[in-house]
Amino acid sequence: MTLQAWQDAGMTLSTTSNEACKLFDATLYQYVTWTNDKTMGGIEGCLKKIRAADPNFVMGHVISNGLELIGTGRSPIIDQEFEKDLKVMSDLAKTQPLTEWEKMHVAALETFAKGNIPKAADVWEQILQDHPLDLLAIKLAHDSYFYLGQQTQMRDSVSRILPYWTPSTPLSSYVKGMYSFGLLETNFYDQALKVASEALAVDQKDCWSVHTIAHVHEMKADIEQGLSFMKQTENNWKGGDMLACHVYWHWALYYIEKGEYEAAMTLYDKYIAPICLSSGSILDIVDNSSLLHRLQMEGVDVGKRWDKLVQVTKKHTNDHILIFNDLHFLMSSLGSKDHEMTTQLLQSLKELSKSPGENYQQSLIKELGLPLSQALVEFGSGNYDKVVELMYPIRYKILDIGGSNAQRDIFNQVLIRAAMNSNTKAHNNLARSLVIERDVLRPNSPLTERLMRKASAVHTLI
Ligand SMILES: [Fe+2]
Repeated sequence: MTLQAWQDAGMTLSTTSNEACKLFDATLYQYVTWTNDKTMGGIEGCLKKIRAADPNFVMGHVISNGLELIGTGRSPIIDQEFEKDLKVMSDLAKTQPLTEWEKMHVAALETFAKGNIPKAADVWEQILQDHPLDLLAIKLAHDSYFYLGQQTQMRDSVSRILPYWTPSTPLSSYVKGMYSFGLLETNFYDQALKVASEALAVDQKDCWSVHTIAHVHEMKADIEQGLSFMKQTENNWKGGDMLACHVYWHWALYYIEKGEYEAAMTLYDKYIAPICLSSGSILDIVDNSSLLHRLQMEGVDVGKRWDKLVQVTKKHTNDHILIFNDLHFLMSSLGSKDHEMTTQLLQSLKELSKSPGENYQQSLIKELGLPLSQALVEFGSGNYDKVVELMYPIRYKILDIGGSNAQRDIFNQVLIRAAMNSNTKAHNNLARSLVIERDVLRPNSPLTERLMRKASAVHTLI
């Protein structure tokens, strides 16, 4: 979009560089489609060109810093370079006659940078009331709700602006894709499937809509349908390089469900690990940790795979941007038996819990971060009684650490397996109840069936 086109859409960009406006648009396009367009140098290349076209273009700084923050791989609290980048943005905003819309975008990022993600999402919502076609605000709010575990907000945020997106509006099908994901996470599976399919009918490369469908099959334990969907559509979504690892992770989950661990491991070795080792992205790291931990819980020997992964996670030991991320980093340090990293991660987490200030994630450390981390440590040491004592009281609050229902299922599995393996009879009974609950909610799952058999065996032995 040119400078004039942005202005016509009611979102005036304060720059005289038409080139910067077009590059801003190109960056946003790649963010929304989860794709680095190599012909444009990817997101990285576009951001560099924006800076060259107009170093003082505030919305250029906004999209650049916004993508860093929403990636959750860098925190200005411990990264001075990043802190400087944010300061440049804030200083420029003070010295220019910006529009209210631009000022609000700057304010949202300043708030997010302090760790107050709920308040940042509020600012993006305020923006959307006047600018329902602001795709940057839509997507940043969408991703923030995901990190907050605010599933209803994630759905309704998009539903409110969806009527403004007519089929002729560029990327309108991608907005539908976001809506489908909100529907899915609030358990409207049929509607989610319908809306995602409509989006895919417009653009079959829309990997976020593909991803919604992958989730629907996962949540309904439609394993065969999930597998055939993945195989049939692989060539459409694997070009979405920022999401491909995650979609392969979903594919591997179907194999774990079926007990076909070799097939899951093959996907891990061929795609999930190599993509992560080269990207270093947090989402990819989370998928790697999650998959290896799930395989291990199934009794699979994952060999030296943790050792490679920990090389990537180690540098994030003191990040503490999201508890959800911390827990996955911890899985890798426990898996590779890197005791130093485990101790450091737990100690720094404890330290931050003392004075969280307005940092939302840090305010959750005491209630969720510490007990969940400790539970993973105890699980690794075979202290199953302790795991149950730590996790059971907070099981309904785990939603607050964010991520999807499918991702957080790893914690349900940890609790069930700990209860099952505990030496306490009450815990064994609890395991049985939890497996029944799981089966009722998601019938015909082979994994649940395996857990059910184990739980019953433990029960009859008592
Ligand atoms: Fe997912």
